[in-house]
Amino acid sequence: MLRDESACNTYNYGDSDYWDARYLNESAFDWYQRYDALRPFLRKYIPISSRLLMVGCGNAVISEDMVKDGYESIMNVDISCVAIEMMRRKYEHVPQLEYVQMDVRDMGFFLDNSFDGVIDKGTLDALMCGTNGPTSASQMLGEVSRILKPGGVYMLITYGDPKARMTHINRPTYNWKIELYIIPRPGFQKPAGSTSSPKSYLSPVPINENGMLPADYVLEDPDSHFIYVCTKRGDNSDLSESLTVDI
Ligand SMILES: C[S@@+](CC[C@H](N)C(=O)[O-])C[C@H]1O[C@@H](n2cnc3c(N)ncnc32)[C@H](O)[C@@H]1O
Repeated sequence: MLRDESACNTYNYGDSDYWDARYLNESAFDWYQRYDALRPFLRKYIPISSRLLMVGCGNAVISEDMVKDGYESIMNVDISCVAIEMMRRKYEHVPQLEYVQMDVRDMGFFLDNSFDGVIDKGTLDALMCGTNGPTSASQMLGEVSRILKPGGVYMLITYGDPKARMTHINRPTYNWKIELYIIPRPGFQKPAGSTSSPKSYLSPVPINENGMLPADYVLEDPDSHFIYVCTKRGDNSDLSESLTVDI
């Protein structure tokens, strides 16, 4: 779902009214991937003792699954007051989970350098479908960069390939080291007779100096999901390692 920018025209994914109406009729839904598929990446990059922020949490079960797996502190925010009220009630007895209604383009409620990790599954995608998508994306990513501690990780899980996402996330001002993983959508089966050698989804995919996939890179599943692991460098870290794109 949400394969390309043209898919945005079908629904108003950038509009809080759309989400409020949707959440009135939907109790739980995880976009793209469930925790079990994402666990290797989360556990590799984000220790369970981290202070975490889930941006655009919706009514997804991933935060609950993370707590069951040992994560100790997850702040969840969403623009939809319907989703936040529902989730607050559902998890009132789970002290590791907090829910606050908030627009991710202005997270002034949080201090600078206050989170070890920020997880985004489908929220940058939703913003980019709204009016002024690129401006909204840049406001949100600026906020993510501000509230992440040096060494902290922004993990973006998206349908957007590097051509669609790198210009937004790979900015010198954020100073993020970016690694990319590609995983098939749930239930994907290789076509019968496929001779391609199996890929290890747990290894980062090579990207060139502009953050793009090599020209001959073939996606095993054309509807794959992309996981961008963006680590905020400390003030004194070596900038030469970073991907930089002049924009
Ligand atoms: C595609 S859904 C993903 C929900 C959830 N993260 C998941 O993985 O199932 C996008 C979410 O972003 C939220 N959202 C959209 N614009 C937002 C904004 N400006 N601030 C905060 N949340 C927003 C929507 O309400 C919705 O819950």
